[in-house]
Order: sequence, then structure tokens, then C-alpha cells
Amino acid sequence: MFNDIPKPILDRMKDLEEIDTRDREDGTPNLERLRQIPPETGKFLAIMAAGVPEGSLLEIGTSAGYSALWLSLACKLRGEKLLTFELLPDKVSIAKKTFKKAKVAAFVELIHGDARGHMSDYDEIAFFFLDAEKEMYAEFYDMVVPSLVSGGFLVADNVISHEQHLQPLVDKAEKDERVDSIVVPLGKGLLVCRKI
Ligand SMILES: C[S@@+](CC[C@H](N)C(=O)[O-])C[C@H]1O[C@@H](n2cnc3c(N)ncnc32)[C@H](O)[C@@H]1O
Repeated sequence: MFNDIPKPILDRMKDLEEIDTRDREDGTPNLERLRQIPPETGKFLAIMAAGVPEGSLLEIGTSAGYSALWLSLACKLRGEKLLTFELLPDKVSIAKKTFKKAKVAAFVELIHGDARGHMSDYDEIAFFFLDAEKEMYAEFYDMVVPSLVSGGFLVADNVISHEQHLQPLVDKAEKDERVDSIVVPLGKGLLVCRKI
């Protein structure tokens, strides 16, 4: 999967990594920043998504499409499409450019809007990557866990970087008898939940 990443994808990943690093250094306001995952998190997500059972693959929080590019590698392997949701029009137009430049239209579908209004459309979710505003995480968790297929994963980013906000969710997942969960200290900290 990673030994033959097509050049258009690699080139766009590098461009976005440079923009994200520059944004973090030059004080670009939070809303304008790409706020994307680091490459090692992308690789980890792709490895996980490649092995899940049959079902939908969803991402909440596209931004410029960086994490979606990693997940597109798993989708290509599976012959499936990632559905990725983004709220902000400015981010949607950058993501469109990303997916066009990287030539991943066959593996990624971008949906513009608040993903919370779409979750009831999916009742068999195999992989769910949550990377949106932290105050929405608990709401997404409650909507998505019942729809995860057995053996499917919910992965939420930032549980270490935003521990103060997200520790209650980590504690909730730990006690939730529907899932096995663990915090993986990779990147900004991932909560990984596997549906039993
Ligand atoms: C941390 S960034 C995502 C970074 C991206 N996953 C990456 O690593 O390349 C979070 C994004 O989620 C979007 N967002 C927040 N709440 C959302 C919602 N309810 N539905 C869709 N997108 C949302 C924000 O506009 C923002 O662009």
C-alpha cells in the first residue's frame, strides 16, 4: 500500500504538509489553518482501514483532504470509496483541488455540510475517523457506535492534545460494553474503539 503511493498523491501530501507547517509557525488563525494529522497518524489510519470488515468508510473533518489522501490508499486496496464530510466552504474548495490534483476521485467522495445531519444515512459503518470540533465528539460517538459493524472501528484524534476536553469520552469508551477501546499515543493521541 505504501511502497507504490502514486506520485500525484505524494506530491499533494508534501504540498499540504508544507502549508500546515507554515500555518502553525506564522500564527495563521485557527479557523484558517489546515489543522491536519501528522504523516504517521495517516499511515496508521490507512493500515487500520485496510483491514476492517465490509461497510462504509467515513471521515468527519476533511479540511484540505490530507488525512483523506492517506485513507484513499486503503480504499484503493479495498475497491471502495471514502465518504469525507466538511462544514466550511473554504476548506471544501481546497479539498476539491486536493482530490483533483491527487487524482483520487474514484476513491474519495467529498460531502459539504454538517456531518451530524447525515449520520442517520449510514447503518453499517466499518471505519469512522473523527477529526472535527472537540465539543462534537460525544454527539458523534453516541450516533455512530450503534451503527458500527462488528469488528468495525471508530477512531477519534486529539484525545491527548485535547485531554481536558476529551478525557470524559475516553472514560466513557472504556466503560462502554459495546466496544473495546484504547488510547494510542501516536501524533496527537488517538482513541481507538473496536465494536464487539
Ligand atoms: C482538524 S480539521 C481536519 C483535518 C483533516 N482530518 C486532516 O487531517 O487533513 C477539522 C475540520 O473539521 C471540520 N468540521 C468541524 N465540524 C464539522 C462537522 N460537524 N461536519 C463536517 N465538518 C466539520 C472543520 O471545518 C475543519 O476543517
